[in-house]
Amino acid sequence: MTTQLHEEGIGQVQGGFERAFGKNKEVRYFFAPGRVNLIGEHTDYNGGYVFPAALSFGTYVAVVPRQDGKYRFRSLQFEAEVDVDVTDIVYRKEDDWANYPKGVLVQLLELAGAGEAGAGVGAYQGADLVYWGNVPNGAGLSSSASIELATALALSSLAGLVIPTMELVKLSQRAENRFVGVNCGIMDQFAVGMGKQGHAMMLKCDTLDYAYVPLAIEGCKLIITNTNKRRGLADSKYNERRQQCEDGLEAIRRELPQLASLGELSVDAWEQVRGLIADPIIANRVEHIVREDDRVLRAQASLAAGDLTTFGELMKQSHESLRDLYEVTGFELDSLFAVAKDVDGCIGTRMTGAGFGGCNVSLVREEAVERFMTQVADGYTRATGLAPSFYICDIGDGAHEIVL
Ligand code: GLA
Repeated sequence: MTTQLHEEGIGQVQGGFERAFGKNKEVRYFFAPGRVNLIGEHTDYNGGYVFPAALSFGTYVAVVPRQDGKYRFRSLQFEAEVDVDVTDIVYRKEDDWANYPKGVLVQLLELAGAGEAGAGVGAYQGADLVYWGNVPNGAGLSSSASIELATALALSSLAGLVIPTMELVKLSQRAENRFVGVNCGIMDQFAVGMGKQGHAMMLKCDTLDYAYVPLAIEGCKLIITNTNKRRGLADSKYNERRQQCEDGLEAIRRELPQLASLGELSVDAWEQVRGLIADPIIANRVEHIVREDDRVLRAQASLAAGDLTTFGELMKQSHESLRDLYEVTGFELDSLFAVAKDVDGCIGTRMTGAGFGGCNVSLVREEAVERFMTQVADGYTRATGLAPSFYICDIGDGAHEIVL
């Protein structure tokens, strides 16, 4: 099923594999996309709703099995070349990008050792892997989750195992939490693993109940604009926000001891208990989460009803809340938002992903796409001195093997 879409990616890893490890007839190819989140930001680790979709670009990996227990990781875009033995896999800072696939391998071994994935650890006998991707790094489009899912699917397939995608999603998140040390929620790995062409996904992050929602935006395009400001300090600020949400939850539990997460708190219930939180910053964080969750529900309903105007308004409100209450936008994302929202034909616009730099996503009428890009580039560059990049989104499928 190679489509034109994957031609470049397959070409890259095919050539790269030959140069790194020599020609091999057994080579198999796997792909996992990046993702864009349409609305529902920082709600995932609070057990709330998110509404992401998989992109048509992502990470490609060419892979051939070995029988000596060695895994050799190469990338056409990162320098570190990393070889590990399956009996001895530890996090090493200098291994850089390869810590993601190493972390995934550790989780696969744990699953196999627990007897849950059928064949036992002996199924993992080694492999040579070469990666290439077209998700911009550090831009908030989940380049790391796409490396994780591509690896999880490739290595489990090579081991002869068919692990349900949802398991691969969860173990990839564990790899990032436990091995790489980033305390992310489930959204990115879920979207990258479970994506479906032409659909967004409505996910409740505590129960993992989800539904595919046709992305019915006829006459419009989704445009991702990269601020080209890398996400500085993102991890420490991210963890700080998580802690603030925990603190808020704990305070609310004094009156609502049954509350398992902020995702269970309705707007009305929140209005009743907000007095329990003395610290205004913590109260703002909770206010964002509760209202953002409500916005996701309304956004999905408006999309289903074909009401793109309301959908767009909710996107803008989401950005304003992330700017004013959750404080994760920053100068570049806010400058971009300020210009984008005023372009004639831009229906909705907001930051997407963790924030602190990275990307914005906008819903733009087809006839206004050119104007949008010109005006946004002008205004944004005038404000920040940076040139933005634009990607017109196609919503693609989740992680899968590409059979040539
Ligand atoms: C990052 C994390 C996700 C999610 C978003 C914010 O992308 O990896 O789990 O928390 O930030 O919505």
